[in-house]
Amino acid sequence: MRILSGIQPSGTIHIGNYFGMIKKMIEAQNDGELFAFIASYHALTSVKDKALLEKNIFEASVNFLALGMDPEKSTFWVQSDVKEVLELYWILSNHTSMGLLERAHSYKDKTARGIGANHGLFSYPVLMAADILIYDSNIVPVGKDQIQHVEMARDIAISFNHVYGDILVLPESKVDEEVSTVPGTDGAKMSKSYGNTIDMFGSKKGVKKQVMGIITDSKELDDVKDHTTCNVYKLCELFMNENELKQLQQRYATPGEGYGHFKLSLLDKINEHFEPYTKRREHLLNNPKEVKEILDFGAKKARKIASAKMEIIRNAVGL
Ligand code: ADP
Ligand code: TRP
Repeated sequence: MRILSGIQPSGTIHIGNYFGMIKKMIEAQNDGELFAFIASYHALTSVKDKALLEKNIFEASVNFLALGMDPEKSTFWVQSDVKEVLELYWILSNHTSMGLLERAHSYKDKTARGIGANHGLFSYPVLMAADILIYDSNIVPVGKDQIQHVEMARDIAISFNHVYGDILVLPESKVDEEVSTVPGTDGAKMSKSYGNTIDMFGSKKGVKKQVMGIITDSKELDDVKDHTTCNVYKLCELFMNENELKQLQQRYATPGEGYGHFKLSLLDKINEHFEPYTKRREHLLNNPKEVKEILDFGAKKARKIASAKMEIIRNAVGL
């Protein structure tokens, strides 16, 4: 079973991204053959700054590698290092009706939010279909907003196969219904656009400031506190085991400590949790040549499969 996923390169990552997506993807390496890439071509639809795009691609690669993406076991590369996908994108464009693209929610949402309508944004799902179909992907784990794109890839593959025979594998999306939303420091969904994040690889001082800024009620040291409604406790649930949580519940129920103490316990757990990754991350950040070699190795593995598939496709269509 081949599992494929593309990741938009965005610079900073927070613990919501980690528990909601990155951790699951790293774990998917045990469920099947994982193909994961940094969606650099897709990022061009939103980032039009050379230095920023380069930085984002590099940092996203480093973050995934530091967090446990295994380049030997899985295939991990940068999308634009395998150009075959653009050839398939053009071929598939001729099997994609305008109506199908016009129905895409993501395009409608983005243009409604004032993002300029251009052809890249409009045809984004066709490139995504090419990503999926060129690697004969069976399963595509995605967030809810991307399900429609995987369905479009399936529709495009059906149209193509209808004309040329059974050449493209029909993919299926996989949505993890139980992914719970990680709350931010204000209790709303943690999101970089709400300014309520706790960064994964922020400076020690910066992360401390974010944790100490978590909003709580105004109970005093001597009050008994309710852990079930507390944002600090909700975040602790991500980092503590059952025993540690029981102890923490005791502390909430016993007068004498304040939210500041609970926040410091959370901070310790966050630092402890990400510490092993921080070292590897620092190492990779300081060794861009090593990162490039890993990505080149991944691109080579991916290209081998993509070019073999393109040969079959070119032959089928008469090129
Ligand atoms: P942001 O909301 O900060 O802009 P993105 O939209 O870039 O984050 O999300 C990247 C990935 O991280 C997506 O797969 C998304 O589902 C996941 N994610 C983001 N925020 C959270 C959260 N608060 N809880 C769980 N998962 C999240
Ligand atoms: N569009 C996806 C996102 O924004 C990223 C992506 C590009 C992707 N190509 C893909 C995801 C192929 C899965 C499969 O998150």
